[in-house]
Amino acid sequence: MKKLLFTVLLVFGTSALFADDHEAFEAAMKKAGKTMGPLKKALDSNSFADAMPGAKNLVDIYDVTEKFWKERKADDAIKSSAVGKAAAADLLAAVTAEKSEDARAAFGKLAGTCKGCHEAHREKLADGTYKIK
Ligand code: HEC
Repeated sequence: MKKLLFTVLLVFGTSALFADDHEAFEAAMKKAGKTMGPLKKALDSNSFADAMPGAKNLVDIYDVTEKFWKERKADDAIKSSAVGKAAAADLLAAVTAEKSEDARAAFGKLAGTCKGCHEAHREKLADGTYKIK
């Protein structure tokens, strides 16, 4: 009986852990969606001050993203998270140094990771929400 109780607690504990993570990941994704448009606009017009908050957001977003996929042990997603994380750091450095060419290159590299991962790991449901696969 004790063993059963332990198992039940373990299962609930683990799923609660995943649910928390999933929530953090979904929040990061929503933030990513809101960040990219204004950030691109700021970069296109060399408004470095306007680009700064978005670049900072992306560093945090890819941090959450990488952690989430490491826990799920999906190698391709871990890899694209790492590429995105490095590009976000490059982007922030370029925006800080006001180097527009570098900033655009980093932004392009980062944006490429969104689509690849969505094609592999995101499924759109009939109600318009998404599911992880
Ligand atoms: C390593 C994988 C991965 C990367 C990289 C990634 N995404 Fe996602 N994204 C997902 C998955 C999986 C979902 C579905 C998550 C869910 O619904 O729980 C998702 C969902 C989303 C959503 C919908 C959120 C919602 O529930 O309304 C948006 C918006 C989004 N991503 C934007 C982006 C943008 C913009 C980037 C790049 C800057 C990006 N994502 C990079 C995997 C990724």
